[in-house]
Amino acid sequence: RAAEPAPTPALGWNSWNTFGCDINEQLIRDTADAMVSSGMAAAGYEYVVIDDCWFDPERAEDGSLRAHPERFPSGMKALADYIHGKGLKFGIYQVPTELTCAQRGGAYPGATGSLGHEAHDAQTFADWGVDYLKYDWCSPEGTLDEQIAGFTLMRDALRATGRDILYSINANSYHPDKNGAKYDWGDIADQWRTTEDIKPVWRTGNPNTYPMGVTDIIDVTEPLRDWAGPGHWNDPDMLEVGVYDVEGFPGLTDTEAAAHFSMWAMLAAPMIAGNDLRSIPDGVHGILTNRAVLAVNQDAKGVAADRVRDDGDLEVWSRPLAGGDVAVALFNRSAQAAKISTTAEEVGADDGRLRMTDLWTGRKSFSRGEISADVPSHGVVLLRVRS
Ligand code: GLA
Repeated sequence: RAAEPAPTPALGWNSWNTFGCDINEQLIRDTADAMVSSGMAAAGYEYVVIDDCWFDPERAEDGSLRAHPERFPSGMKALADYIHGKGLKFGIYQVPTELTCAQRGGAYPGATGSLGHEAHDAQTFADWGVDYLKYDWCSPEGTLDEQIAGFTLMRDALRATGRDILYSINANSYHPDKNGAKYDWGDIADQWRTTEDIKPVWRTGNPNTYPMGVTDIIDVTEPLRDWAGPGHWNDPDMLEVGVYDVEGFPGLTDTEAAAHFSMWAMLAAPMIAGNDLRSIPDGVHGILTNRAVLAVNQDAKGVAADRVRDDGDLEVWSRPLAGGDVAVALFNRSAQAAKISTTAEEVGADDGRLRMTDLWTGRKSFSRGEISADVPSHGVVLLRVRS
């Protein structure tokens, strides 16, 4: 398995969670500007990804994809140049089937999927300067073997262009069997979705059915932890930090958003922000740019966290880091604040004197082996433990 282009999980932004199909080139340019001016780029965010609904519903006469003429009048090459000029990278969305998800749902006209156009579309993306492709199996049909064949075809088409393009796949949308959630895609893609779509809600109770909340997704993704590693990552879907009022969901509280962000860091997940970067509330900004938490996510060892204790709604997760530190999440799913306790032994830290840093408050503490904290309802205390 090659470690490029994702030796650590991708950090970036994607248009879907806040804007859906309501996108245009000014929004994307403003977002790239804001990624830099907000300090997010300096904190490590790199990819600006346009999701569904960017394309002209008709292909050109020669079969080429082209940008929607009114929403993206300057074209995708110009947009990619603009994003690259900011020191950022450019991502785009397409499907291996005939209809994109928005086309299948009737929210967008045309039938512009890559089925039968794989090599041509991969070359178009490379010519535009695309650095990241989100490739989404948006069909109720298709056996796992057909999905493997379809995703492999585009992997090879991207490779044949000679350009480094991060390959992000989703085998699950609209697929009743959620075939893709039961397969390790590490030889085919750099990252792969583990579940149906996330919404800005703590819990829906749906095991792998649209829509899903933060804790539902954690539960489906946790058993897949051994699949994650440098160059190949489980993708529990994009961040809902700072995303409000979507499909009747009001959005996460800041406490919930910090827990969501912490747990995605622990899962070694891609961290793809989905909020409006042009106006970021202080609380949301503090979450998205917490470098100590991002450092856990980007840790070079690339091992996803293990749930080492599960007392109903109170959980302890541990993630071994390069250099011997251990990241520990004390995770409270319940409706009440609670004290959560564990030990050095349980989290895999050497016994003896532990030096602990709370990655949200910056507070440092020492212990002889006990690790314990009061954790707010729907919250996390995230510690970096050195022994
Ligand atoms: C699917 C994907 C989403 C988004 C939409 C776009 O539902 O899972 O992340 O890309 O399609 O239509």
